[in-house]
Amino acid sequence: MNSLAVPTAAVSLQGVTKEFGKGESSTLVLRGVNLDVYYGEITLIVGQSGSGKTTLLSVAAGLLNATSGTVMVLGQDLAALSPKEQVLFRRKNLGFAFQQFNLLPALTACENAAVPLLAAGVNRHEAIHRASLLLDRLGMTHRYNALPSKLSGGEQQRVAFARALIHEPHLVIADEPTSSLDSQTGQLVMELLTSISFSPNRAVIIVTHDDRIFRFGNRIATMSDGIIDHITSHTITPSS
Ligand SMILES: Nc1ncnc2c1ncn2[C@@H]1O[C@H](COP(=O)(O)OP(=O)(O)OP(=O)(O)O)[C@@H](O)[C@H]1O
Ligand SMILES: [Mg+2]
Repeated sequence: MNSLAVPTAAVSLQGVTKEFGKGESSTLVLRGVNLDVYYGEITLIVGQSGSGKTTLLSVAAGLLNATSGTVMVLGQDLAALSPKEQVLFRRKNLGFAFQQFNLLPALTACENAAVPLLAAGVNRHEAIHRASLLLDRLGMTHRYNALPSKLSGGEQQRVAFARALIHEPHLVIADEPTSSLDSQTGQLVMELLTSISFSPNRAVIIVTHDDRIFRFGNRIATMSDGIIDHITSHTITPSS
């Protein structure tokens, strides 16, 4: 990204709260989050277990509705969309890889990775071909036809990750994408994400505990007890 360009927010969260439950048993998990995530960048979210990182990603992805505050994603106020419109918006624009990989057990690795393309109406042959190319980049060539039950945790994670990227979404959201990967494979995944994020109309948000990948973040937002308490930024180049 041109360092002189004024960055544009792909995601803008203002005063976002999320409360689970009602009354005395309710828990306020997000307590007024303010965060801008910019196009052309990787934003990392770090913080202790239980601080609200996954909840924040779910709200940014529109999988959970905020209790209060504003959630703007790719210029769209998510609260203004009906549930059906939210599904279509997500399917078209977002790619997620969550902590649980949620692969479909009856589909092969390639078919799982191709799901977003199939949902978008791409013909099966083309979808499977594109999925296989992406799995190649993730070192999964030998596992195209394996069912999830026959894949290791790290292999399942890479399939879930391929599924998040296959349809070239404007916003990629990944929760601990390297948690089951060795250093070398984690590096491969981050290089792929870096190449994707060097685009003026794409943004990446990653939650991580993995300090091996901190150097890939243009911004690192630290979450603590339901708020973002500070953000650091630095310039990344493709070779850094
Ligand atoms: N559906 C829910 N109902 C009630 N409480 C919830 C729900 N989802 C999350 N929480 C609570 O919200 C808090 C934050 O959870 P969250 O999963 O966002 O944390 P996290 O930062 O992602 O943690 P980790 O690093 O362990 O993945 C936790 O105390 C959790 O118990
Ligand atoms: Mg989490």
